[in-house]
Amino acid sequence: MKNDVLKILFNAEQIEEIVNGLAKRITNDYQSKKLCLLCVLKGSLVFCADLMRKLDIPLEIICVSASSYKNSTITSGNVEISKLSENIEGYDVLIIEDILDTGNTLSNMVKYLKTQNPASIAICTMLDKPARRKVDIEGDYVGAVIPDEFVVGYGLDYDQKYRHLPYIGVLKPEIYN
Ligand code: PRP
Repeated sequence: MKNDVLKILFNAEQIEEIVNGLAKRITNDYQSKKLCLLCVLKGSLVFCADLMRKLDIPLEIICVSASSYKNSTITSGNVEISKLSENIEGYDVLIIEDILDTGNTLSNMVKYLKTQNPASIAICTMLDKPARRKVDIEGDYVGAVIPDEFVVGYGLDYDQKYRHLPYIGVLKPEIYN
């Protein structure tokens, strides 16, 4: 699979360092809060699993699925969000995402979550690609800002593949062109 990757942006050690830094900040900020991690499937599966094990505070976790890309590299703009399995009223919800790109997914997610009356909503994203932003939204906890390149690995896919790569890399353009 490494042959499909043009270059590695973050290897496993670098990812661990980033996650440790985010976990420290979140642990500090959510000391006396009622934290609920909202793992946005499928992309944030790996990141969320790593991050939650580094958080030294009580927390609960809910998984929700959101999908818009439908096996292409262009967002459809129509985000499908699954119904929450639990009540988040009164919880300090921290949305966990793998990447903040156009902002379409997260802005729709925040809009939906607000209707469920949480105490607070914040965003933690492993990657931020500000060059592609179409909606005015920012992450509260951002692992790394990346250029406008198509990245895979560490949960991120192309056509549902590459999610299991232990690093984050740029996909060779000939794979998706
Ligand atoms: C990806 C990613 C984010 C979203 C970011 O999800 O996991 O949720 O796109 O892009 P945006 O900021 O342009 O909305 P995708 O819809 O591909 O589903 P997945 O998580 O199952 O890969």
